[in-house]
Amino acid sequence: MKAVVQDTYGSADVLELTEIERPVPNPNEVLVRVKAAGVNMADWHLMAGRPTIMRLFGLGFRAPKQRIRGSDVAGVVEEVGSEVTQFAPGDEVFGSADAAFAEFAVSTEKRLLPKPANVPFEQAAAVRMVGDTALKALRAGVGGELEALAGQRILVIGAAGGVGSMTVQLAKHFGATVTGVCSTEKVDFVLSMGAEDVIDYKKSPLLGSYEALIDTAGGRTLDVLWKRLVPKGRLVIVGAEGGNAFLGLLGRSLRAAVLGPFVRSKTITLVAVETPDDLAIMRDLLASGAITVPVERTFPLSGVADAIRHLEAGRAMGKVVVVP
Ligand SMILES: NC(=O)c1ccc[n+]([C@@H]2O[C@H](COP(=O)([O-])OP(=O)(O)OC[C@H]3O[C@@H](n4cnc5c(N)ncnc54)[C@H](OP(=O)(O)O)[C@@H]3O)[C@@H](O)[C@H]2O)c1
Repeated sequence: MKAVVQDTYGSADVLELTEIERPVPNPNEVLVRVKAAGVNMADWHLMAGRPTIMRLFGLGFRAPKQRIRGSDVAGVVEEVGSEVTQFAPGDEVFGSADAAFAEFAVSTEKRLLPKPANVPFEQAAAVRMVGDTALKALRAGVGGELEALAGQRILVIGAAGGVGSMTVQLAKHFGATVTGVCSTEKVDFVLSMGAEDVIDYKKSPLLGSYEALIDTAGGRTLDVLWKRLVPKGRLVIVGAEGGNAFLGLLGRSLRAAVLGPFVRSKTITLVAVETPDDLAIMRDLLASGAITVPVERTFPLSGVADAIRHLEAGRAMGKVVVVP
């Protein structure tokens, strides 16, 4: 099969489209014929091996142990292992997988759900990581369940990106008043996602007062962010592109842990670990039309490097998807 592989960490230039053996599913695994694969900043991090501290946690110190990127998938079940009971060849599925930038990818029953018939493969392929992250960020932001969002004022920084556009939609859906922060050319897009108000950070500093602030973009000091919170407000650090090469978003989080006792708000560093329940929430919201996955661009398998460069440059508006 065709797959995009890498044998060293580095820029998108290390990615190479090549022919490799098609994977054979283990007894508990599902082999999916990839119809679409979502592209995430996580793919950039794993490709680049940055922040470097990540490499100490089993990913491979000098080169990635897993040669193929891509962790969000939608496709058709090709083959199932002997212990798989919930899926059969021909089923349309979506969720997460290992190595989805390929013609076939392996996953497990727990990481997949049947794809709603009314949701296109491209949208289904792009929802898992951003949905998971946005749901968990919002729960952290209100310190409780999503229903607690009703009536809350939420500021979303990086509101035009994959996680940000999903966070705006979900917060709005659950009754919050949302202000998005983005660059000038993305203002209309963020409004179209349901934000009541948008701060164009190229023209204005951050303004207003909020119960929760979800930062998916990084690049601003904690002091600037804390000033925008009401007493006992909550700052959720989701992303920090451009941060320290070794520590990444941990740099800001460590500082927050040290200074936390002296400020009147709470700071949470999010590490979103995928859960089947949140994938099911996203499926239901997508199928009902309550939310959408704004797919900005699709790239062929030969264009994975360009897709990742597009994200890296901060140009993304919604989601980017690879269609093999
Ligand atoms: N903590 C977790 O568990 C978790 C899970 C998933 C993702 N993340 C992180 O969350 C962050 C956002 O992910 P995403 O998928 O939403 O990314 P994305 O789609 O690329 O969106 C990021 C947005 O941030 C803004 N941005 C500003 N300066 C940027 C720069 N120098 N580089 C990149 N973007 C810049 C861009 O919009 P403007 O033009 O408006 O500035 C862009 O739309 C990433 O850092 C990712 O690694 C964390």
